Amino acid sequence: MRTKCVLLYSVLSLNLRLITIDGPVAVGKSSVGLLLAEKLSFHFFDTGVIYRTFTWKALSVGLTPVNVDALIALAHNTRFEFVPAGGPRLAVMVNGEEVSDYISAPEVERNVALIAKIPQVRERMVSEQRRMATEMCLVMAGRDIGTIVLPDADLKVFLSASVAERAKRRYTELVERGADASFDSVLAELEQRDHNDITRAVSPLRPADDAVVIDTDGLSLEEVVDNILALVHERRSSC
Ligand code: C5P
Repeated sequence: MRTKCVLLYSVLSLNLRLITIDGPVAVGKSSVGLLLAEKLSFHFFDTGVIYRTFTWKALSVGLTPVNVDALIALAHNTRFEFVPAGGPRLAVMVNGEEVSDYISAPEVERNVALIAKIPQVRERMVSEQRRMATEMCLVMAGRDIGTIVLPDADLKVFLSASVAERAKRRYTELVERGADASFDSVLAELEQRDHNDITRAVSPLRPADDAVVIDTDGLSLEEVVDNILALVHERRSSC
């Protein structure tokens, strides 16, 4: 992976290696990050995956969010590896086990935010995310990547969109997948998750001071990625 990175530096004279994409739920961080990574031949990691993977592990050994001390001990005794998962995407292996198929399960969905807000669990996840970032050219997406995880990243992007627009996108996605959803319940869930993300004590969702905020209302996926690529090229030619 390093070789590819060094090659990019020299062939494209790309003077940037780490790009962060933060933003609220359902703003399109993963779709944008994946396409951007593909265009740059970078890797892509959605940090929600490590919190979901750890939550799956915890539940599988019988822990719940109230078992704080045991969860902290488990976080420290668990081995995480980041492995290619098709295209630029990276998956997380936990103690040598590939669990991607289980991390969207309803019980993970219900517990992940409660486990992710335990400060010592976060510390461990953040140090793993930083470790991976030393090893490759990377687009990393999440909520606290530009502010906490990689404050020295080369380019920080914060995606925003109105809650109505995000609910529309999420609702369309669910209907296309054949799920039985109502627009009003999708909207209410997003409003609740926004509130949790913005008001939580540890690593609340906010743009880093040096992030470029892109309002994606009315923009297509390609237009958002083109905007970010323009920033990449601006920085490339600035040195
Ligand atoms: O983005 P996704 O919905 O997969 O994230 C799952 C959960 O992981 C979020 O609801 C949040 O509680 C937690 N998370 C976090 N910090 C991140 C990414 C995700 O706390 N950088």
